Amino acid sequence: YADYGGGPSMSGHMHHGGTSLTDLTGPRRGKPDVAVILTARKQKFTLASGEQIDGFTLNGSSPGPLIRAGQGDLVEVTLVNESVPDGATLHWHGIDVPNAEDGVAGVTQDAVPVGGKHVYRFKADQQGTYWYHSHQVSSEEVRDGLFGTIVIGGAQDDVIAAIHTYDGKRTINGRTGQQRLSVAPGKKLRVRVINTDNTLVRTGLTGAEYKVVAVDGRDVHGPTPTTAAFPLAAGARVDLEAVMPATGALKLEAGTVSLVLGEGEAAGSLPSASVDLLTYGTPAPLGLDPSKADRRFEYKIGRSAGFLDGVPGLWWTINGHKFPDVPMFMVTEGDVVVMTIGNSSGQAHPMHLHGHHAVVLSRNGVAATGSPWWIDTLEVGDKETYEIAFVADNPGVWMDHCHNLPHASEGLMTHLAYE
Ligand code: C2O
Ligand code: CU
Repeated sequence: YADYGGGPSMSGHMHHGGTSLTDLTGPRRGKPDVAVILTARKQKFTLASGEQIDGFTLNGSSPGPLIRAGQGDLVEVTLVNESVPDGATLHWHGIDVPNAEDGVAGVTQDAVPVGGKHVYRFKADQQGTYWYHSHQVSSEEVRDGLFGTIVIGGAQDDVIAAIHTYDGKRTINGRTGQQRLSVAPGKKLRVRVINTDNTLVRTGLTGAEYKVVAVDGRDVHGPTPTTAAFPLAAGARVDLEAVMPATGALKLEAGTVSLVLGEGEAAGSLPSASVDLLTYGTPAPLGLDPSKADRRFEYKIGRSAGFLDGVPGLWWTINGHKFPDVPMFMVTEGDVVVMTIGNSSGQAHPMHLHGHHAVVLSRNGVAATGSPWWIDTLEVGDKETYEIAFVADNPGVWMDHCHNLPHASEGLMTHLAYE
């Protein structure tokens, strides 16, 4: 964040438990299984569907190249900044990489200036659907094209659907309107949907029942067939599974855009009912005991107009303060952390915690009864309260912010830090 200026400078200097952040890198040695060079440019480019956009590209296109890695692969990505004036980074959204690989300008590295480069290396430990994006002046650079999809594990013929709005034009994989992909009848299909926009997208398949098989790169336990829509938070991902019908086609809907799968006529539109992950699927062990929490944090999202922490404006707040005046949430490695996130700000906020996955325990006091609902990005509606839990198992300094990215620059951002 260029607007990070007032915050504590932590790149490489922060110490916690005697370890320097510069020690918290991915494997520096060893031959990578996947090696990619991504060159970032400011340029005019043409969407796959023909519209002209003035923005940013990676290797000449937006979205940038799809990166596929096998589970356990060593991934090496070299970011080269050819012409992004404010500098750029790459953040691996949802992949719990070592802290120094997290790509947050002003926290884990300096933004890569024009003419510079930066090498990211990490083990692709956890299969799932993820994405990458610049984390420097994110509200502009992501909006204008500096992002792409990264998938760990899974089959090569999985369908990818990255939803993004360029200059008011909603797209799937860089195409406006309706597009078609031919898929054989009877085939079992996994569709990986990524919301790279700033607000929630109601999505889902029509034409057959489908299952919600993974959310934010974590499998759903005991998914049941549904025809309801899926509310996909900004920054979040969902994997949908369906069997291609013998006749007709499936259709992935995402507001004004759609992706038709198969040869036939695509039927239907999304119903008003939505999948609720609080009750969807069947329970399974969490791997942590929230009743034995080592830390409990309260996190109240609000809105404040006028002077706040000495600065005039209209701010989103956490516990009454705007970034960078929000106290950090401090943890010790190994802690079980329970966080209560309340929202009385008048708007929904897709809250994203870097470097960790948390499990939803309850919403508005109602306990979760479905599959363990693991998230890295959680839509917290106005007047809602969520209780989430996670294990502090990834030392470093981590952003926790709203993924409606203008909100993050308007104060809705804090850190989780290890002492
Ligand atoms: Cu997807 Cu801090 O970001
Ligand atoms: Cu927000």
